[in-house]
Amino acid sequence: MATVIQSGAVEPSSPRFAAGPAYRPAPPAAPRMEPPAGPVTELDPARIRRLAVVEARRLDDRTQGSAAMFERAKAVMTGGVPSSYQARKPWPIYLDRGAGQHVWDVDGTRYLDVHNAFGSMVQGHANPIIAEAVARRARLGTHFAAPTEDSIAVAEQLERRFGLPQWRFLNSGSEATMDAIRLARALTGRDTILKIFGSYHGHHDYVMVSIGVSVYEGTDRNDYPSIPYGAGIPDVVTQMTIPVPFNDADALERRIERLVAEGRLPACLIMEAALMNCGVILPEPGYLERVREITRRHGIVWIVDEVKTGLTIAAGGATEYFGIRPDMICLAKALGGGLPAAAIGATYEVMEPVRDGRVVMVGTYNGNPLVMAAARANLELVLTPAAYAHLGVLNDRILGGVQGVIDAYGIGAYPVGIRSKGVIAFSRTKVVDYESFKNAQDEALIGLTWLWNANRGIFAAPGRDEEWTLSIAMTDADVDHYVNTFGELVHALTR
Ligand SMILES: Cc1ncc(COP(=O)(O)O)c(C=O)c1O
Repeated sequence: MATVIQSGAVEPSSPRFAAGPAYRPAPPAAPRMEPPAGPVTELDPARIRRLAVVEARRLDDRTQGSAAMFERAKAVMTGGVPSSYQARKPWPIYLDRGAGQHVWDVDGTRYLDVHNAFGSMVQGHANPIIAEAVARRARLGTHFAAPTEDSIAVAEQLERRFGLPQWRFLNSGSEATMDAIRLARALTGRDTILKIFGSYHGHHDYVMVSIGVSVYEGTDRNDYPSIPYGAGIPDVVTQMTIPVPFNDADALERRIERLVAEGRLPACLIMEAALMNCGVILPEPGYLERVREITRRHGIVWIVDEVKTGLTIAAGGATEYFGIRPDMICLAKALGGGLPAAAIGATYEVMEPVRDGRVVMVGTYNGNPLVMAAARANLELVLTPAAYAHLGVLNDRILGGVQGVIDAYGIGAYPVGIRSKGVIAFSRTKVVDYESFKNAQDEALIGLTWLWNANRGIFAAPGRDEEWTLSIAMTDADVDHYVNTFGELVHALTR
């Protein structure tokens, strides 16, 4: 069977399935969100490497416009990119435009976009309702550093969705987590903070700790080290951030008890309710409830970072989806419909030091009118109950399709997802925390998957930190394209 390529996408040319039976779409199966129980089909590392070489060459050949742009860019923009997370070897794919579920690169190739700007564009690209709201606002003045009515409407929407009565606006997820932690420190008068080992919360010093690192065998889960993520972070700041494993309330409790004994009771625990930067890792039953109980008992502020989950997995994010009651939440990404919006939501008591001026929560661009107009249109008119229902149907279809392929070929993998988000974990053991996530990483297979997708008209986030975010512009056919492309890869690896 020929690869399903979206019309307008560049068709990969060389014969991929020269020998053996052609891939036939596997029937979907109920996603189990667990690795296969029995023996699995081994994948040959040499074949993975061979396929990766072919796919890399094919991608290089047809992204010569990006190659030329990279030459120009790196002369003036460090590494040729605005953010190091956009870098790629040998060059990044420079994009030209997006519409609905598609993006086009500068060579004119159209891709189904499941990267969706690291999970920001759940609305689809150039959403006409948001574009119109932004255009209207642009004609009325783009910035005053004074509040506009739209910011009130956005706060009202968030209050309804997340059940937290007080809101402030910022410009990025990093600003939101930074200000949330400062507020927690002010409330408690304590310096030490807790985070989840391996979890990303932005690029400020408080949270650039113990991520992107290896966990070596024998490392004590109850005593994970505080490791700076890159140079330039003062050790004194790094050592104030204590990492604990996800999905392990006992380890959290033990670490808090030790910190208490050292006279360092933490101000807050910042965490995602479901990890979205280590693939997708769901909380085990009862874990979040115990976290709430433990933090409350110790007077530790529980900050749930909903930068990724908020507005993508439910109207009220992880707060609604898991039925939790955090003290503070952070939003960004999907809030602004592609513009740089972020927010902190909290109870009255938690926000009191901001209201009375003890905590200085400021920023020239906070509540920028253009951003607020986009966020208002997004919340009131785009991310409606029908939109979430549509995302749910699509995600069930993609998870079921991927599970069907895995079952048909018997490989050691499983899909995990919630609503618009998902990942195919190439793991024979269940991924429950950063340690099991890292141990399951097969870098060569992950690299091949990205290339394979890119050469078949699918633009995904690099690596396995995150894989897909669906958008409301997508259709069943888009999801089937994704599943079939995965099926063809598995076929090529196992035939
Ligand atoms: C969970 C989480 N928190 C915070 C951030 C930081 O957001 P930003 O990149 O907008 O600063 C990210 C970014 O990926 C994130 O995934």
